[in-house]
Amino acid sequence: MGSNPPDNSKPMRVTVIGTGYVGTVTGACLAYLGHQVHCVDMDADKIAKLQRGEMPIYEPHLTELLRAASARGGIHFTTELSPAASESDVIFIAVGTPPRPNGEANLSYLESAARSIGAAMDGERFRVVVNKSTVPVGCGNLVETLVREGIRETHPQEERRIRFGVASNPEFLREGCAISDSLYPDRIVLGAEEDHTLNTLRALYAPLTAQSFDAPEFLPRPAHMTHVPLVATTLTSAEMIKYAANTFLAMKIGFANEVGNLCERVGADAIEVMAGIGLDTRIGAKFLNTGLGWGGSCFGKDIQSLLHTAEEYGYQARLLEAALAVNRAQRQVVIQKLQEKLFILKGRTIALLGLAFKPDTDDMRDAPSLQIAERLVQLGARVKAYDPIAMPACRAQNPALKIQYCDSALDAVFEADAAVLVTEWDEFRGLDLAQIACVMQQPVLVDGRNLYDPETARSAGLDYTGIGRSIRPRFNSRNGQTAESTADSLATLVDERSK
Ligand SMILES: NC(=O)c1ccc[n+]([C@@H]2O[C@H](COP(=O)([O-])OP(=O)(O)OC[C@H]3O[C@@H](n4cnc5c(N)ncnc54)[C@H](O)[C@@H]3O)[C@@H](O)[C@H]2O)c1
Repeated sequence: MGSNPPDNSKPMRVTVIGTGYVGTVTGACLAYLGHQVHCVDMDADKIAKLQRGEMPIYEPHLTELLRAASARGGIHFTTELSPAASESDVIFIAVGTPPRPNGEANLSYLESAARSIGAAMDGERFRVVVNKSTVPVGCGNLVETLVREGIRETHPQEERRIRFGVASNPEFLREGCAISDSLYPDRIVLGAEEDHTLNTLRALYAPLTAQSFDAPEFLPRPAHMTHVPLVATTLTSAEMIKYAANTFLAMKIGFANEVGNLCERVGADAIEVMAGIGLDTRIGAKFLNTGLGWGGSCFGKDIQSLLHTAEEYGYQARLLEAALAVNRAQRQVVIQKLQEKLFILKGRTIALLGLAFKPDTDDMRDAPSLQIAERLVQLGARVKAYDPIAMPACRAQNPALKIQYCDSALDAVFEADAAVLVTEWDEFRGLDLAQIACVMQQPVLVDGRNLYDPETARSAGLDYTGIGRSIRPRFNSRNGQTAESTADSLATLVDERSK
């Protein structure tokens, strides 16, 4: 097999299997770069929506990107995997890999997709099958075996004529800024065992790595971005990079929360402490926010999956175990704070501001709000909630959860005994805190994301508690600033550095 990179300027035919948060964005970005893309999903409702131009998920700028993508390379949505895959040079697998009850990744969607790809192949061209789903180490080999089995089962006589390579191309996008992360990523990771496969993907991503595409008007290219580093490695290392990245980020947040819990006890302020350590370039300022802990579809699942892999190899990964345990405990911190403030939760009304696991998404998978609401209901409280985007998803996915959904933040806190800020949506930054304090039964606010300045919230009449923040108002006698405003200026400094 030759090792020359294919013609970099040539658009390729691409199939993306799975039109979830990853697959839809990947397909749209590749079509925006000029490739001809077919997105396939077995969920006919999802595909029908996408064909009508309706988005099955909430992701900022996705509608505009799909419109631009149609006008460039072209993007089509279908439930028919076979015709799309057989016409393609590159076939991405972007199906879900949810956790099984024992923590291992459920690979049934991946296995079914890989077999179907095999069944769709012929000897007409070399194809690259790319694993974009987050899969345990060794799944590159598994996919290759399953594709071969698919070929053998469907057209055994052609088996020797059919050529394909398998690659791993882990995805690092963050929901809520997925398009920016995909068009302007920190890096692209490619894992494969031979050059032709790697070079095909290098060519596919050439407009991205060279940043040679016209940036969309709605998402200008970040200043000073001239190229994207590409890490080319083996299948196994690429698979490991994804797990190592996610578990490290989860541990970083867990570390901030653990230190934050200590800060509360000793009278320090975690925001100042994190700003102070984040300025150390070896540590970095991002992902050091104290709060309710992480949620979402990836961190918990990926740590559990890596723990499962560790177990398979007879290794006890203690840091990973601790990251899970610290995060689990952090979600209970809110309940303890409410009990400290209200003593009795039975019969009380608690308002949750935000339900999504983070702002700018409707994704409710492993959202801290769910565990908090469940626990409050168990303890006899009434739960009201408002989220700008995620209420339909929350209601549909958790029909048994006893939440009274409200039309606005003000509606949610009206006559509530306490409010918990769960998701730091921009909409909540601008709330009139004095009005909130006025309409509540008791003006208790637990700020689960440290969104508000404690002094401002207290001056507005709220009984305010953040996470990891000293409750003692302190005064900096040298320049007359309160400790909090010093912390804010430090945080601003850190934000500026990390942009
Ligand atoms: N969501 C994220 O932020 C994120 C980020 C990085 C990596 N990942 C990883 O990417 C993968 C996909 O995640 P997601 O959030 O997009 O999942 P998702 O659940 O939103 O979407 C998966 C889609 O795949 C479809 N599907 C499953 N089996 C199929 C098959 N055989 N043929 C056709 N369609 C099939 C499902 O119907 C669904 O629409 C996961 O492994 C995840 O861990 C996710």
